[in-house]
Order: sequence, then structure tokens, then C-alpha cells
Amino acid sequence: MPENSELIHSYKGVPFPTRVSINQLNSLDAFEAREDDLLLVSYPKSGTHWLVEILKNLYHCTSGQVTIAPPLEFQDPSKICELRNLPGPRVIPTHLPQNMVPRQVRSKDCKVIYVIRNPKDTAVSMFHYYQQNPHLPTVHKWSTFLDLFLKGEVVYGSWIDHLLSWERAETNENTLFVYYESLKKDLPKYVQEISSFLGLSVTEEQAREVAKRSSFREMKERVEREKQRERPDPTNTVCALTSDRKLIFRKGAVGDWKNHFTAEQNATFEALLQDKINSSELASCVDS
Ligand code: A3P
Repeated sequence: MPENSELIHSYKGVPFPTRVSINQLNSLDAFEAREDDLLLVSYPKSGTHWLVEILKNLYHCTSGQVTIAPPLEFQDPSKICELRNLPGPRVIPTHLPQNMVPRQVRSKDCKVIYVIRNPKDTAVSMFHYYQQNPHLPTVHKWSTFLDLFLKGEVVYGSWIDHLLSWERAETNENTLFVYYESLKKDLPKYVQEISSFLGLSVTEEQAREVAKRSSFREMKERVEREKQRERPDPTNTVCALTSDRKLIFRKGAVGDWKNHFTAEQNATFEALLQDKINSSELASCVDS
């Protein structure tokens, strides 16, 4: 049992940070969706902030207008209705599994982008995040954390169950699954793919510019500059979905898991997750 384990509680069998209260989760159905909403879904530490930045830059250089809403499940119940005042199109980030998404998001058939990242890198990223985030339990040892990750006893539960919940439900053309590793390989190409999914039109040059502004280095530098200022700079727009965005930009690399997993841990990981991963077309595409 990790220190401060009371910082996590369970809702419908899924572990949530206690900052997301039962009351908040129960009030999700009060959310009023619109047809032009885009739900940005991810398991934590899969590149959510990166996608937010890409989307923001993409909309700005094409249609001009977009609102990045605060993460859905972090909304105070008394404020969830206030989201209706936000101008559209709205990008609504969430880590919710598919069965917990507000009813209207499904009935209005909103577009969904789901970000997938190699679970080994996701686990490593989450381990470091746990270390530094005072709102999450304290787990000092990597081996202890990996054990919790494999048992699904970390925030938002099992990585593969989360992915499967979305893969099985979202089979229509309104869902785009985006791989972190693909973005790393050729960001301008995927900026164009995201753009056509959203019905936007972007030139090759604009796609390259969006990619440049959304690069790890640029985003991290902007956050660093912000940290040095006493007052927030309104033109520094790297979006903070969490209370502390400096925790977000760690390495931004593919394959960092190799610096953390022992051969034995890798074998255990494969043995425990591989069967389920093989049952998922999406997960089995993730480079390992
Ligand atoms: P690491 O901890 O491996 O560095 P999320 O936004 O879902 O919390 O995910 C955070 C992870 O995405 C972190 O991974 C972070 O460094 C990475 N990330 C954020 N912006 C990125 C970018 N522009 N390019 C690549 N990775 C990025």
C-alpha cells in the first residue's frame, strides 16, 4: 500500500484521484454537449497536453476560433453547466473510460480523438509524475509502481481496459485514434491527418508551423519562461490542464522505458498484459 493512498478512491471500480470527487463524477451527465464539440480522450501521461497544443495551433491557423475547456471530470458540479457559456468549437479533454462519458457526448455523436502511447513509456511517465505530484500517492520505488500499474491500481485504472473501453465502443468515423509514437515520427503528416478529420483545411506549410509550435522543446521553453515571470503572461498559451504544468514536460521521448525496466520486469509486463494487448487491434500496433 503506497504512502498517502487515501489520495485515490474508487468509483464504479475505477481508481480516481480524490480531487475528482464522487459528487463530480455523479454530476457528469449534467454536461450539455454540442455537435461541434471535440472530446480529447487519453489515459493519463499519453500526451494529452501535446494534443491540446497541436489542436489549439491547428484551429488558430485555420478557422481561428477554438476553446480549450477544462478537463471534464475535474469540473465542480456547480460549474459543469457553466461550460455551456464557452464559445465553440470546444475541445474537451478527459481521461474517463468510455462508459463514464456524459450521455449527451454519445447521443450528439461528438467527434473523439483518442491518444495512445506505448504503455511501458506511459507507466514510466506516470511513475515520475506520481513522484512530484502532491495530489497523488507517494511511491518511491519504480518496481512498486510498476506492480501497481500492472494491477490497474493507479489513477484511471488499467491502461488496457481503458483503451479497450474506447476501442470496442468507437467504431464509427467520428473517432480518430492517434499514436504518440507516430506524432514523434512525423508530426506535420499527422497534423494534416487530424486537420482533415476535423474538416479543417491546412497547407503543408501551416502543418509544419503547427508542428514547430507544438514541439517538445518549444512547449517546454515557453513553460520555463513562464515560470520565471512573477505574473502570468497572457500571450504564453501553453495550456495548463493540471495545476502545475511544469510537471508535464519531462523527457517527451519514445523508448524511455528501456532505461527503467529490467529484463525481468519486461517479461512480467509482457506476460501480464500481452494477452489482452493482443486482443486489441490498436494496442498491438504500439511499438514495443
Ligand atoms: P514524459 O513524462 O515521458 O516526458 P500528458 O500530457 O498526458 O500528461 O502526458 C505527458 C507526457 O507527454 C510527458 O511524457 C511529456 O513530456 C510528454 N509531452 C508533452 N508535450 C510533448 C511534446 N510536445 N512532444 C513530445 N512529448 C510531449
